[in-house]
This record gives sequence, structure tokens and C-alpha cells, in this order.
Amino acid sequence: TRPLKVALLGCGVVGSEVARIMTTHADDLAQRIGAPIELAGVAVRRPSKVREGIDPALVTTDATALVKRGDIDVVVEVIGGIEPARTLITTAFEHGASVVSANKALLAQDGAALHAAAEQHGRDLYYEAAVAGAIPLIRPLRESLAGDKVNRVLGIVNGTTNFILDKMDSTGAGYQEALDEATALGYAEADPTADVEGFDAAAKAAILAGIAFHSRVRLDDVYREGMTEVTASDFASAKNMGCTIKLLAICERAGDGGSVTARVHPAMIPLTHPLASVRGAYNAVFVESDASGQLMFYGPGAGGAPTASAVLGDLVAVCRNRLSGATGPGESAYAALPVSPMGDVVTRY
Ligand code: NDP
Ligand code: HSE
Repeated sequence: TRPLKVALLGCGVVGSEVARIMTTHADDLAQRIGAPIELAGVAVRRPSKVREGIDPALVTTDATALVKRGDIDVVVEVIGGIEPARTLITTAFEHGASVVSANKALLAQDGAALHAAAEQHGRDLYYEAAVAGAIPLIRPLRESLAGDKVNRVLGIVNGTTNFILDKMDSTGAGYQEALDEATALGYAEADPTADVEGFDAAAKAAILAGIAFHSRVRLDDVYREGMTEVTASDFASAKNMGCTIKLLAICERAGDGGSVTARVHPAMIPLTHPLASVRGAYNAVFVESDASGQLMFYGPGAGGAPTASAVLGDLVAVCRNRLSGATGPGESAYAALPVSPMGDVVTRY
């Protein structure tokens, strides 16, 4: 069987781990997929940077030329941000590749259009890594729970802010000191404002609500408050009440059942609640549905290797689809379902 060619766009915290696992687990991956996968090119901004385990001959600053090559089976986009990621992804579809992305900001803004582009070209768009790092959430919601009716998705979906809040609460560390540590550990976004002001969690809430409720939810539809104003005295007050403080994302069906709300804000959590014991950059998400009752998803929510685990899982799924000629569930699976216009139904608290 011919090797499947993979183009890696971005080789930072996540991309370098994707490349490492592709190399070190090459035999296992080939067996699971049914064909070997080959790293065909790596697009970066700074070509002279030394990148362990990456053949310098594969490195390019011309990501556009890489996705236009025409022989690429799968593009893995781990650059982040809106542009050039959006144009690169649509160009990849136009040139016959499927796409795996970890880019929640882009998917929360343009997910519907990107899905439509994938479908138009008969290609896949997978993004398990975009929400909650290593924790499987997108595919369980999209596939395992597709026959159930999800009513609520609630939890901690940002590792950086959970790391900071945990440090402030458990060690008395200052906000900036804890943020610097989270950044050094590779948890924070390129601009950590996205984390601490709640934009990253709101993007994830939009993605989760869209999938869980078969709806169209974008970043702008999500009510958002960050955690920059949480102080040591807030933690002291919370403790007096037997609580701690967590940044929560809450997505639920509104009372009429035909609309949804999504919001992100700091919340007091009783110390007896499982969310109170989520430490460091771990995430935890509860999913409540009619038939299953309550499910809890828990694990590392940020960082290079955990996120790469989710990217590799998608890569295997997409490569299997390439070989079988199948595609994963596309936008049309949702477009057929009745959806209330979001502008009318998102409750802002
Ligand atoms: P980094 O900043 O560590 O890496 C970004 C990479 O993209 C770098 O290799 C950079 O090149 C490259 N790059 C930037 N601009 C361009 C460009 N115009 N053309 C080509 N390459 C470019 O980011 P992360 O790895 O942390 O994050 C990547 C994505 O994964 C983001 O969407 C992020 O939200 C998402 N994500 C991150 C997680 C994490 O824990 N870090 C977890 C889950 C998702 P160079 O190396 O030369 O600077
Ligand atoms: N910056 C993000 C976080 C990365 O801290 O959760 C994982 O999506």
C-alpha cells in the first residue's frame, strides 16, 4: 500500500509532539491505519530553528505551496489563529487533502463554512484536539451519543486558567507568577489573553454546544467573563463557604427545549463536588443526556503530548477514511435538524 502523505502546518508545542509520535509510533500507526504514514512537509515561521527529530529538508516557510502540492492526503493544522490557518485549510480541501486541526478559535468562528468546504470536496475535517486536550469529547458527543438527547454540557475546558486558579488557591501564588508558569509549560495560547479572558473556553463552549445540540453556535453567541479579577480574598471568601473558584463553561438547552444557551464565567464550586478537585491543567466535563444520565470526562486538558494524542487519534481516523473512501459526519448531518436562530435564543446573564 502506498504511504499516506501528511503535511504538518506548525511545529510548536503541539506540532513538535505530533511529529515525534508519528516517528516513534510509525509501525503501530501503520498497522492501525492499514498503510504507513509519511511526514511530507513541515511549515513553520522560523526555518532556522533547530527542531529535534525533524528532517530539515522537510521544513518550509511556504505553507501555501505545501498544501497545494496535490499529493498530500492529510493536512494537520497546528498553527492556530484565524489567518493564515483558514485559507490554508480551505486550500487543502481544494487540493484534495483532508484536515485535522486543533484550532478552536477558527472552528468557533468559521466551523460551519469549513465543514461545508470539506463536504463540497468530499474530504474530512476532524478537530478532537480543539476541545479539552487529550480528553475524547467531540467524537463521543458526535458519534457515541448521536442516538441520545444531550441536555447539558458543563465543566472546566481551559487548562491554563485552571492551573492558575489552582495555584492561587492551593499555594497562594500570585496571578502573574502562575500564568508565567502555565506559559512555560506550553499550556497557554500564543496570546494568553485568550485563556485568562475566557475567549478560549468560550470558543470550546461554542464548539461543544454546536455538536451536543445539533445547532449553530459561534464564539459571539457565548456569554463570556474571564478570571483576571479573581483575587486571593475571593478564594478566602469561597473557602469560608466550603467552596473553591473554577472557570466554567456551561452549555444547556433552554427551557423551551428548542434553543440553547452557552456561557463561560468563574463560579463557586462546593469542595465536595468532583470539579473542585480538578487540579493543574486538567479539564473535566459533565455531559447530561436523556438516556445516559450523567457522564464525566476527565484528563489532561492542555500541553504538547496530551493534545498530540487527540491529533493522532484524528489522523488515524481520517487516514482510515482515505483508504476506505468514507468520510466522517459532515455539516449536512446537522443542517437538516431544526435550529432556532441563535441571536434570539442565547441568554446573556
Ligand atoms: P505554538 O505557538 O507553540 O506553535 C505554533 C506553530 O505554528 C509554530 O511552529 C510556528 O512556527 C508556526 N507558525 C506560526 N505562524 C505560521 C505561519 N504563518 N506559517 C507557518 N507556520 C506558522 O502553538 P501551539 O502548538 O501551542 O498551538 C497550536 C494550535 O493548537 C493552536 O490552535 C492552539 O489553540 C491549539 N491547541 C494548543 C494546545 C496547547 O496545550 N498548547 C492544546 C489544544 C489546542 P515557529 O515554530 O517557526 O514559530
Ligand atoms: N490554552 C489552552 C488551555 C490549550 O489552556 O486549555 C488547550 O486547548
